Amino acid sequence: MIFGVDYYPEHWDRTEWKNQAKLMREGNFNTVRMGEFAWKLFEKSEGEFDFSFLDEVIEILANEGIKTILGTPTAAPPKWLANKYDILQRDRYGRKREWGSRRECCANNPHYIEKSRIIVEEMARHFKDNKNVIAWQIDNEFGCHGSTRCFCENCRRQFGKWLGEKYADINELNKKWGSVFWSLDYDSFDDIILPGYNSCEIEYPPNFAHNPSLDLEFRRFSSDSWVKYQKMQIDILRKYTNLPITHNFMGHFSDIDYYKLAEDLDFVSWDNYPDTQWGAAEYEHISMAHENMRGVKNKNFIVMEEQSGPCGWDRVGSTPRPGQLRLWTYQAIAHGAEGIVYFRFRTALFGMEQYWYGVLDHDGVPRRRFYEIQKTGEELKKLEKYIVSAKNNYDALIVKSYDNVWGHEIKRHTEKYDYYNLLYSYYKANADLNICTAVSCGDYEKYKVVYMPSYNIVEKEEINKIEEYVKNGGVLVLTFRSGTRNTYNNIVPLPVPGVFAELAGIEVEEFDAPRREVTICGEIDATSKIWCDIIKPVSAKTLCTYGSEYYKGKAAITVNEYEKGKVYYVGCDLDEPAMKKLAALISNAAGIAMIEAPKGIEIIRRDAYTILLNHNEYEVSLPIKGKSLISGKDFDGRLEGYGAEFICEDDYMYEKY
Ligand code: GLA
Ligand code: ZN
Repeated sequence: MIFGVDYYPEHWDRTEWKNQAKLMREGNFNTVRMGEFAWKLFEKSEGEFDFSFLDEVIEILANEGIKTILGTPTAAPPKWLANKYDILQRDRYGRKREWGSRRECCANNPHYIEKSRIIVEEMARHFKDNKNVIAWQIDNEFGCHGSTRCFCENCRRQFGKWLGEKYADINELNKKWGSVFWSLDYDSFDDIILPGYNSCEIEYPPNFAHNPSLDLEFRRFSSDSWVKYQKMQIDILRKYTNLPITHNFMGHFSDIDYYKLAEDLDFVSWDNYPDTQWGAAEYEHISMAHENMRGVKNKNFIVMEEQSGPCGWDRVGSTPRPGQLRLWTYQAIAHGAEGIVYFRFRTALFGMEQYWYGVLDHDGVPRRRFYEIQKTGEELKKLEKYIVSAKNNYDALIVKSYDNVWGHEIKRHTEKYDYYNLLYSYYKANADLNICTAVSCGDYEKYKVVYMPSYNIVEKEEINKIEEYVKNGGVLVLTFRSGTRNTYNNIVPLPVPGVFAELAGIEVEEFDAPRREVTICGEIDATSKIWCDIIKPVSAKTLCTYGSEYYKGKAAITVNEYEKGKVYYVGCDLDEPAMKKLAALISNAAGIAMIEAPKGIEIIRRDAYTILLNHNEYEVSLPIKGKSLISGKDFDGRLEGYGAEFICEDDYMYEKY
């Protein structure tokens, strides 16, 4: 099992390398990731390559039993490259990005692509026989610092080509996009524009008043551009090596279609920072991010950067409490991580990230955080056999679609609406009942309940798959703003909820984006404040009605029997306690086992053991007894503040191991 640190030997005097490697071994680390920002060191000037410093470091680390994951350095282009070629992105106002941070390059810039190709090939050739290299990471965090979409002339031309390949001819595009609106018909693919500044700002951060089909296609194209750029690098590496290849993703980040980005990789890895200068995330938010990362390939993953100290760029966040670094490690594992790499080994003395604390402080002296991680590493040696290739048994699925992320961003329905928040409210309700919940798409038949919150843009094949699932006995949960748009981001000429109307057995007669809280009563008492569909049940049964406004007494939540399955339609947003009641009601009817634990507790039951996590700072007593796989001792149900346990429950299958 990979247990490592992100390492930047180039930030330290070479006389320190040996001691640092020794200390890593003492910390129980067996892997480092490095190289991903060292382009200038590898290629001092155009065509002048030198990898000797990394050869030396890899060797020093190997002598301490530490293997290397190598990053290709293309996120940080050297100055000579930016001087010689115009490789920099243009923002939506047409402004040129300044060189001097990272990720400023355009994925469609031919010079950047060419120079990336060369450095990757040189690197691949140089390290191909190095036995101490165990995996490759492509680039670093595609899309970070708002770099997914570029508005330069290269991108405009490539976008035109991309559209040309997708649409038979320009008239078809005009028809599909409804270009007739405001006289926007194009005469040729060369005319295509990018949805940049046009003086009509409709929201902050700005979206301009462009055709919604153009906007959606541009987001798809921009995402595809990075997928293609990544594939270019993978193809080069593949000429030289069979080692596994990954990229470090960013959890909830959604500007790039992560399903597509993951397709060409052997495994997904991602960077997890629960508590930074920008705030502390709720623990369910982190769990959901892990599930999202597992879900993009439906495969276990690695955390390539795990927070190991207080973090921030110009200010720090709070310091991880004693126990929290260990807890976050086990939280990742509980949701599918089978390798952990901590960011970073020693805190930088210079550069942008002086406040991004690592395992060691600036002075390099091991202190509390080092010892906590060291202890975790020790425990993981014992636990490894339970973790690698372990699978969670998922009961529920939250469907996440990147097309829908973008569609809802382009036309967000109402001021307070947010697609992510809605998905999260469903995830959280399930997580708080300790229901094992995946975040992914497709393969519906694997789950007892499938939640498709605001699944608005629906592809034809998807409709058939969903229908099949329900016909065969599946339980589907739909919500407001579902089923009304096609793949071109146009609205379908059907009663709401569009393509789902028959499945749901309802017709939405009117809706309201309420100005004040609306009450809901029936099977669940609740309040709503974002959206209320006023439902006319056709074949569905009413579960809840509105208790206020002019639609008092009208249906708010319904359920429809459809062949062997059931379709719930939740016409409104619900407050947090009501969301939990709704998830309990649905899960109960679907035969899903739930565990009501105190707030802050996660209980994850795997095949033959249970992971317990306590995100509270105080001790909690649980009605679970068994044997601890960590200490080998009896577990009496008491879990300390920020504690984590691996338990073979008494009435479980201890013998399996
Ligand atoms: C990201 C990057 C790292 C580093 C950290 C901390 O996850 O991948 O290079 O910048 O954030 O900011
Ligand atoms: Zn560009």
